[in-house]
Amino acid sequence: MKTVLSCIQPTGDLHLGNYFGAVQNWVRLQDEYKCFYGVVDYHSMTMPYNPVQLRENTWKMVFYLLACGIKPENLFIQSLVPEHIELSWILGCTTSYGELTRMTQFKDKTEQLRETDKDAFVSLGLFAYPVLQAADILIYHADYVPVGKDQEQHLELSRNIAQRFNHQFGKEYFAHPEPLFTETPKILSPADPNKKMSKSLGEKHYINLFGEETRVRKQIKSAVTDTGEPSNGGMSAGVKSLFDLLRACNSMDAHDALMADYSAGALKYSDLKESVANAVVGLINPFRERFEALQADKKSVKNQIQDASGEIRKRAQQTLREVREITGLGSLKG
Ligand code: TRP
Repeated sequence: MKTVLSCIQPTGDLHLGNYFGAVQNWVRLQDEYKCFYGVVDYHSMTMPYNPVQLRENTWKMVFYLLACGIKPENLFIQSLVPEHIELSWILGCTTSYGELTRMTQFKDKTEQLRETDKDAFVSLGLFAYPVLQAADILIYHADYVPVGKDQEQHLELSRNIAQRFNHQFGKEYFAHPEPLFTETPKILSPADPNKKMSKSLGEKHYINLFGEETRVRKQIKSAVTDTGEPSNGGMSAGVKSLFDLLRACNSMDAHDALMADYSAGALKYSDLKESVANAVVGLINPFRERFEALQADKKSVKNQIQDASGEIRKRAQQTLREVREITGLGSLKG
């Protein structure tokens, strides 16, 4: 069975864009592959953060993922498998400074930090972020990594690191992880349909997957349908985005009926929004119910994930034993 690995940062909320763009796919892949899914708290230390918040968000993300249908045995918390850091150091020694300076995410995040403070502190951790990501992937010998296009460059770096390691030590040890790009609907911000749904843009710009029904309905009701762009007679980005959401929620009957209205020039935006709100609420209400049920049993769920991380750690430790052997690190054998 081929191995799939992917990870997510504990950002605090999970929104519809994260769900349709990643998590829904992760859930499906579990039927076909051996899957490892990580909540990467070490990665979240690369930008300014608060320790209490980090721990809270890490567990929150675990509960969210479980509520969406990720199987507990496939889920781990990165820092409970500290071998990721050891491998990251070793791989860092087969990664060049030049490669890392070319990472666009590093440049973007550095800029983001400097926007608020021109002398902002840019850590070695932020610079080395992609090496840790390579370690996440290679430590489980992952064959496939489901990621969005924004992670393509990091994945290519992971492949280069694997290749260089294999070449340097004269052994085909690491697999060459391939990205798994799945057609996923592009989910846009309800407040600005020219932008992707995203947490970093602010609260108006994303619909929380675990949000309260009344708030979610309100957000959809006030979604921007007309941004004043020249229409060229075509559908506006906002209206198209609402139709895309209906399709993403699998509400094809409503989608087709409203599309017929649109073609006939008789579409009422209020009807479209009402349908979208019903579809989204129908999708997320069961998630929230499961989340609340898991929360009610917090302690045993936490234990379960601690155990799962421990089991997954055994695989990581096996890799490190082999890597230590290959790279000549201290061993009682010598
Ligand atoms: N960098 C990824 C992101 O921002 C998160 C991530 C960390 C990741 N390690 C990974 C994704 C390993 C895939 C595989 O989305």
